[in-house]
Formats: sequence, C-alpha cells, structure tokens
Amino acid sequence: MAHQKILILDFGSQVTQLIARRVREQQVYCEIHPFDVSDDFVREFAPAGVILSGGPNSVYEAVGWHAPQSVFELGVPVLGICYGMQTMAQQLGGTVESSGKREFGYAEIRARGHSELFRGIEDRTNDEGHGLLDVWMSHGDKVTALPPGFKVIASNESCPVAGMADEVRKFYAVQFHPEVTHTIKGKEMIARFVHEICGCGHDWNMPDYANEAIEKVRAQVGQEEVILGLSGGVDSSVVAALLHRAIGEQLTCVFVDNGLLRLNEAEQVMLTFARNLGVKVIHVDATEQFMGHLKGVTDPEAKRKIIGREFVEVFQTEAQKLRANGAEAKWLAQGTIYPDVIESAGSKTGKAHTIKSHHNVGGLPETLNLKLLEPLRELFKDEVRELGIALGLPHEMVYRHPFPGPGLGVRILGEVKHEFADLLRRADAIFIDELRAADWYDKTSQAFAVFLPVKSVGVMGDGRTYEYVVALRAVQTQDFMTAHWAELPHSLLGKVSNRIINEVRGINRVVYDISGKPPATIEWE
Ligand code: XMP
Repeated sequence: MAHQKILILDFGSQVTQLIARRVREQQVYCEIHPFDVSDDFVREFAPAGVILSGGPNSVYEAVGWHAPQSVFELGVPVLGICYGMQTMAQQLGGTVESSGKREFGYAEIRARGHSELFRGIEDRTNDEGHGLLDVWMSHGDKVTALPPGFKVIASNESCPVAGMADEVRKFYAVQFHPEVTHTIKGKEMIARFVHEICGCGHDWNMPDYANEAIEKVRAQVGQEEVILGLSGGVDSSVVAALLHRAIGEQLTCVFVDNGLLRLNEAEQVMLTFARNLGVKVIHVDATEQFMGHLKGVTDPEAKRKIIGREFVEVFQTEAQKLRANGAEAKWLAQGTIYPDVIESAGSKTGKAHTIKSHHNVGGLPETLNLKLLEPLRELFKDEVRELGIALGLPHEMVYRHPFPGPGLGVRILGEVKHEFADLLRRADAIFIDELRAADWYDKTSQAFAVFLPVKSVGVMGDGRTYEYVVALRAVQTQDFMTAHWAELPHSLLGKVSNRIINEVRGINRVVYDISGKPPATIEWE
C-alpha cells in the first residue's frame, strides 16, 4: 500500500528524530534522509511535503549545506525549521546574518497576519488581541531580509523574523522548534502542516500496518525458512509475533538462556511464544558455557565481548543443527528499528567515542551467510509497541523496560558468578514487584538492581552479618542518551530495602543510585 509521505531532510540537529516522531503521531508516514540527497532522489520519493530540519551550522559558513533545489520546485509544501528556515531564506533570495548572540530556551513570539500555519493556534493573546505563542528557540543566526514573495508570520523583539511564509507556494518556516514539547502548541503546528497544508490523511497506524507488514514479509520470504534470535525484549518479541502471523511454521526462533536473564524470564518467554502463540522456539540452556567463559574475567568490556561472542557461537551451532535436520534457514530476522537505522547512517560520518560496546546480535549475518529480514526497520519504539499490541502480545511484555544484551552480566560488577546472579535476580524481582505495586513502573524508563561484590557488616536479630550490597537504579529519560535518577518515594525505597534484606539471604545492605547520565551511565558497566 502506498502511503502519503513526508520527506524530512536532516541538517544535523540533535532533535531531527523528534520531527519524525511528531509527524508519525499524526498518523502520517515520513522518512528522515540526509540533506545532501540528490534531486532525483527527492523526485522519486514523491513527498506530499518536505520538512527541513535544524542544524548546528551557519548558512553563510557551511558551504554546500543546503537543500536540493528540487525541494522548492516540486510544487509541494515545505516547512523549514531553524537552520531549515535559514537555508530556505538564503536559497530563495533572502539574507541570513549572525544575531551576535545565541538565543537559547523559551521565547514568547507574536503571530502576525493570518497565516495558515498559525491560524487559531495561540497560547494566549496580548492586550491588542494578537496571538502569543510560547516556543523553544535555539539559534545564533537570523533571517534579516525576506526572500521575494514571503511575509513575516511571527516575530518578537530579538527575532523580528521568527516565522515567514510564501502562502502561494506553501513555503513556511519558523526560527523556533515546533518538534520539541517545550513549544507548547508545536504538535498542533505539525498537525496543521501535514494534514491541512500538505493534505495528508491519517493512513499510518499500527493496527492497519500489521496487515501490510504481514503481506510484505510473505512477499519477501516466499517459501523460505527464517531464523530469529528471540531475547524476550520488546523488539525481537514483536518480530517473532509478526513473523509467526506471516509465515507460521517457516519461522524458527532460538532463545538462548545465558544464565544472565531476569527471574523466570526463560519460562515467561517459552510460555508466551511456544505455549500460547504456538511459535517454534528452540530453548538453549547455555548457562554453563557462558559462565565458564566468564570465569575470572572482571573487565566490563571483556565481559561484554565474551557474552556477544558466545551468543554468536550458540546461535551458529543451532543454525547448523537445523540445517543438518533439513530445515535450512535462508533468512536471519532481526529487531532493528528506525532509530538504529538513522543512527548507523549518521555514525558512518560521525566520530562517536566508544563508551560501551553495545551488543545486540551484530556480527551474525556475515558469519551465517543469511539474508537479513528486518520488518521493524521503519518503526519507532512506540510504534513497535503499538504493533505488538495489535498482534496480540501481552501489555506487560510490550511495555517492559529495556534490558541490555549482556543482561545481568553488566549488572554484576566484576566477575560474574552463579551465586551472584541468583542473588541479584531475586533482589531485582522484588524491586520490580514493588515498583509495579506502587504504580511507579510506568513512571520510570528503566529500573533494576545491581550487584556489588563487596561485603559490609550488619546486624540481624542478635547476630552480626557480613554480606553483599545491592544498589537500586531507577531512571527517567526520553531517549536513554541522557537520564535523571527517579525520585522514588522514600517509603517505597524503604519497603524494597526491607524486603530484599529480609528475603534474600546473602544481602544485608541496599543503596540507591542518585547519579544522572551524564556523568554516570544508566548501567553500571
Ligand atoms: P548506558 O548504560 O549506556 O545505557 O547509559 C543506555 C541504554 O542502553 C542499554 N544497554 C544496552 N542495550 N545491548 C543493548 O541492547 C547492550 O550491550 C547494552 N548496554 C546498555 C541500557 O540498558 C540502557 O537502556
């Protein structure tokens, strides 16, 4: 099915992904591409409208950082945001200059004239009845002369052209960021642009998309066999549910228990997929293999590498066994989602510093010689969740906090031992139980316990104890790149601490982690 779509051209803003999410929330399909795509690409994409993102550069310094000229020749609406407005101004004959100082943060602007973009959208009015808007600004340059055909549609004292439009050609531009939630009416502006100005309907929603995705998988895979590493996480679970609906018995999932999973996790995965949904799942208990290789290893990166490597090892062995039994997979399915796609496109040019080597199932396709099947490639996380619900997965599974690939391996500091994993699993389960009971689970983005292999002295009953410490971690975040520690109620923390110390023999002290990211990271290793 052909969707109407919006093309978002990225000039390197930190928040370009948010533009895409705001557009998708309007049930309109969109894609992000780098600003330097070719004119042919733009024409072939056939967008119903184009959005030019913000970016860190100055239009008069960054030579070549402009939109393909075809964007302005297609006859479709264009919305420029921040840098996108400046390049639009410059490319169409206006002038952009440095403002002398950066303007960053909240600003109040006055809507001017009666532009289609702002019609009826205001936070309040001034004494003369003009609409005022609270917006989020972040810029150092400004438009000082309008291109021919444009008028000012918003302004304030420090930014006389806070918005401009040529309503005949349907070119709109704003100096502020409508995509961030700080711009209170930003969502309405995006809605106005995509629906009324570009004329897009509401044809992007997960219940309908489920059928489309099923058809697409069937067409792609035909009669061939598919193998999937099922981890119990949201993405691979949704892939499993989707593929099962699409190709049934042609799908084989491999679920690797590395001994570093949460309490009862293996049972839950087998119950949901094998028992309830009837998916073919091979359950491999590789605890001893992982523990054996981790013995004596304390360095976090070394542990991560071992866990990643062993996963590939186990997976390969299972794939070979399947082949030997005549069920030779031609496809490897993966739970890659749209932010991964955007990030890996972005990281081709970037020089990001490796803080941690995050691992999922990278490295598999090359070693296995399989074709890649990535049915979630176009979806954001919230869409993956909605799709999971549409496919009938339990709410609890679909809205679960993320769990890292190396599992408890990075939550047991230093050497990983069976005994530590068992203690940690029980402490973690108590924490999560109590968070749910107190209605805090959904208010935190990620929460878990960490095992500290140090002993401290305590007293229980009349006796001295000398046992291990557990740290509790709970964070709130939008994107996991930065995070605040969650201000959990003291009574809740107290209850969790009491239960852990009383119920988990071997732990006599519980502490709460009050570090933000940065400077700390979410996981401890
Ligand atoms: P950090 O600790 O880097 O974590 O602040 C950010 C988010 O990433 C998760 N994480 C991982 N996820 N494989 C994954 O799939 C990994 O190796 C991995 N390491 C960390 C972490 O749980 C948090 O959500």
